Amino acid sequence: MKVIGKKVQRIDGLQKAYGSAKYASDYYFHNMLYASVVYANVPHGILKSIDTSKAYELPGVVYVATYKDVPGSNKFGHIIKDMNFLVPVGDKIRFEGDVIALIAAESKEIAEQAAKLVEFEIEELPPVLTIDDAIKDQVIVNGSSNIGFHRKIRRGDINEAFSNADLVIEMEFETGYQEHAYLEPQGAVAYYTPDNILEIYVSAQCPFYVHEDVANILNIPLNKINVIQTETGGGFGGKEDVPSYIASKPALLSYLTRRPVKLIYTREMDIKETSKRHPSKSYYKVAFKKDGTILGVKSSTYLDMGAYSTLSPIVMYRTTVHSCSTYKVPNVHVDVYGVYTNKVPCGAFRGFGSPQVLFAMESVIDEAAKKLGIDPYEIRLKNTLDIGDETATGHKLTQSVGAKKTLQKVFTMSNYSELKRKVEEFNKNNKYKKRGLGWSHIFYGVSLGSGGQHLDGASAEVLVHPDGTINIMIGNTEMGQGAKTTMAIIASEILGQHVDKITVLQPQTLVIQDSGPTVASRTTFFSGNAVKIATEKIRNNIIEFLTDFYGVGKTEIKFADGKVYIRDKIISFDEVAELCNKHNVKLSEVGWYKSPKLHFDQENGVGEAYITYTFSTQLSLVEVDLLTGKIDLKEAWVCHDIGKVINYDGAVGQVHGGVIQGMGYAIMEEIKQENGKILTDNFNNYIIPSIKDIPEKIHVDFVEDEFSEGPFGAKGLGEPSLMSSPPSIANAVSNAINKRINRIPISMEDIIKIQTGGKSDE
Ligand code: MTE
Ligand code: MOS
Repeated sequence: MKVIGKKVQRIDGLQKAYGSAKYASDYYFHNMLYASVVYANVPHGILKSIDTSKAYELPGVVYVATYKDVPGSNKFGHIIKDMNFLVPVGDKIRFEGDVIALIAAESKEIAEQAAKLVEFEIEELPPVLTIDDAIKDQVIVNGSSNIGFHRKIRRGDINEAFSNADLVIEMEFETGYQEHAYLEPQGAVAYYTPDNILEIYVSAQCPFYVHEDVANILNIPLNKINVIQTETGGGFGGKEDVPSYIASKPALLSYLTRRPVKLIYTREMDIKETSKRHPSKSYYKVAFKKDGTILGVKSSTYLDMGAYSTLSPIVMYRTTVHSCSTYKVPNVHVDVYGVYTNKVPCGAFRGFGSPQVLFAMESVIDEAAKKLGIDPYEIRLKNTLDIGDETATGHKLTQSVGAKKTLQKVFTMSNYSELKRKVEEFNKNNKYKKRGLGWSHIFYGVSLGSGGQHLDGASAEVLVHPDGTINIMIGNTEMGQGAKTTMAIIASEILGQHVDKITVLQPQTLVIQDSGPTVASRTTFFSGNAVKIATEKIRNNIIEFLTDFYGVGKTEIKFADGKVYIRDKIISFDEVAELCNKHNVKLSEVGWYKSPKLHFDQENGVGEAYITYTFSTQLSLVEVDLLTGKIDLKEAWVCHDIGKVINYDGAVGQVHGGVIQGMGYAIMEEIKQENGKILTDNFNNYIIPSIKDIPEKIHVDFVEDEFSEGPFGAKGLGEPSLMSSPPSIANAVSNAINKRINRIPISMEDIIKIQTGGKSDE
């Protein structure tokens, strides 16, 4: 490999570092209006009336839109259309961020002032605020029951597992919200081109979702809307479905006024209205043999969906599949419930419903290890998946299972035995500071999975110009994870052109075919394959021409280092491109890659859940101050089997960022609410990790157990990079204080409470 897996300078790095990258808020159009949003600000009720007259009286207000102004469908919802775009009079308010009206005005200030002048009445209803209250179904939030969805796995005989067990562990777990905290808040600008195309510039992961939703809201055909993904300052799942709800607002106002309209969210709006990671409650009962072998898992997990279903049913699918973590479990009885409450709707967040249960199961494994007197490393090694084994859903793994190798690499990388000894010594010598080590061993299904197969395709359009420079457009998006560089590396490997001569464009929905959402850590695999297919076609076109032109054999032509080697001639790729152009050689191609078929029994949750799996191991070293409760992640050792490393620096960056974002989830980040209102509405009170909180060292290594379907063998890393972190840190804290943590985030107060005899969730 010439470029694959090598250190390559990030192709979009400089413009981001210089500040020249153009985000949604950087777009200005002549005659542009500014939008603002009128929120219900009540968790539960019935909208009785809306009066826009006072708002209209304010000079500079151009339009005040309500549900009556929506020309098409007024409903959103990925699976079930249960959320109003603008709440109609007579309909229900289900959370504080429900939207009643939109303003378009000559300035941002006027728009915001006018929002306060829209008058409306709400007859309040008692809100349902907890999972426990919701499942009583005394007050219904949405649909016919607050338990909106249920998914399960039924495999083997769980009762037999318990009767044959030497040890049964029963535990309860709770996890809190997590806010995506992308640095760039949500935003979009809508603009009509002179030829009557509604262009939408939007910060988003999935421009095709925005395309479809805006078309439905406005009732106009898809070929009249061009959604252009702007440079996106982080998504983390929070810009999967949500940008549809954002972009539809300026789109409607632009439709109504025929003027450009801009809407950029403040952090407070963003935190109030947009999705978070689902809080959860889990009950686990797991059967073990004396030697640590897992016999069966019985679990029920409740996810707090908030007011609307949005992506929850798909999130729950992932929760279900990942409920037993990375182990051979012959008897499985897993239930996952999605529960409505009068709070912010929860949705996609890096890991997509799996971190909640991975925390639970990985804690159970540690607890069993302790009770059985087995090292937490050994118990994982004993139960981990290998070639020929079946996952919890009964997916027989036939290739690319580097799980064991990730465990072994972390073991050696960390010098585990010596590290353990050092930690014991530290603890002997320190009364009020205690250190702990914690393992996690997780897996992640790459792709949209059995239920999403129909969306799992991706397109790439590649164009080689006469000067040898290359443009690539893919239907997936760059959101900071490094996808552009990864695509350029793949193209560079195949065409031999230098990475710095390749530009990857922002996707536009009028140009490139719907490539599904940029989620599920699927970009390297799907778009990578599409780029590989397109560039291979171009290379073949060039080879065909050159063999004819120079009278050489096909195998005598090689592409590398910015050059083309033709028998004994060496010509720069740039010159070859010019020559090809002069001879009518086709230098643009489209690559399309679609998912292999997956067979899955949706009713019993049994079968091939995902195309392939990434396997990961993390060991964390923490120090806990017993007097203040402060937890420090001091060092982490992480290893992922991602099939093949394509973009080395990008991959290491994903792991660094993932470990830290996972640390925020485990020990720092907490959404505080009062009567359904989010109080922690900005980063002064919602505390995320800063440079001062990060560990001294994060040691990163990879296993490359190639997957035959992946581009050069690659799988995916975007989400597993976070997922290994929370359970590893929680286990390390439990190890340090010698008490089991059963709730994350672990606050400083929790540490104090647990020591004085309380449980972390009391
Ligand atoms: N990394 C950065 N820097 N910014 C992001 O928004 N999103 C994560 C992950 N890593 C994200 C990120 C999520 S939720 C996903 S699904 C993957 O990246 C998507 O990108 P991939 O398909 O290229 O892995
Ligand atoms: Mo990632 S949560 O799949 O956008």
